[in-house]
Amino acid sequence: MFYVEGMEKKVLKIGQISDIHIGEDASLMQGIDVRKNFLAAYCSESMKDLDLLVLSGDLAYENAEPGAYVYISNLLKDCKVPVCIIPGNHDKVEVMEKYFDLKGKVHNGKCYYRYDIDGRSIFFLDSTDGTVSADQLSWFEEEAAKIEDEILLFLHHPPCHCDHKFMDLRYAMKNIEEVQATLARVKNLKHIFVGHYHYESVVDIGNQIVHVTPSTQMQIDPSKSFFCLSSAAPGWRVIEWGENFLETSVYFSKTP
Ligand SMILES: [Fe+2]
Repeated sequence: MFYVEGMEKKVLKIGQISDIHIGEDASLMQGIDVRKNFLAAYCSESMKDLDLLVLSGDLAYENAEPGAYVYISNLLKDCKVPVCIIPGNHDKVEVMEKYFDLKGKVHNGKCYYRYDIDGRSIFFLDSTDGTVSADQLSWFEEEAAKIEDEILLFLHHPPCHCDHKFMDLRYAMKNIEEVQATLARVKNLKHIFVGHYHYESVVDIGNQIVHVTPSTQMQIDPSKSFFCLSSAAPGWRVIEWGENFLETSVYFSKTP
């Protein structure tokens, strides 16, 4: 634990792992050992001494394979820090609920919630169907307004286009305008952390910075409008969040 001079609040160290895409069993997925890739991130030196671990969706390979959730939840049993999970478009909340403790976090089939840690508030929204529902947006705006300090937001889909030809064309969030209209009114939100795009990027949407976190499964070439694997090396993110600053780094391990 360390403190910024003159400040009371602890600097929180948050690890973000995204788009793990674990399969039903341990077979290679498109030739990639996705379990080994996940472990490279989870066990990396950079993820030591975390205050919070976030899994930001697409835990399962394609369609909420229970074997993926069994594997991840078994691993997380030994995790010494709190873990916040949100679903991605390849997950199903109703299946995840059987393997992860999502009590109080699921409303009308969507997994969204606020998590308070050391006097700070972090929000998690559900974009499994490619949208952030109106219910979630109004809840988020109302809840964020109750907090004076800066907040953070995690969701699976970037609430913007990201100059990624393949993903922007086929798999972008479907209600970007509506989501950004709400975000623009949330003045205590400066940083949003997402996944889904399988590459690393930073996008300034005016009122907020969107940090796109790479996948542990594999990376997709942003310069091609068709699917093109750019790397099978896993990537992940570490965030250090203090009272008046936020620093974040992305790490990649060597190609397996
Ligand atoms: Fe996704």
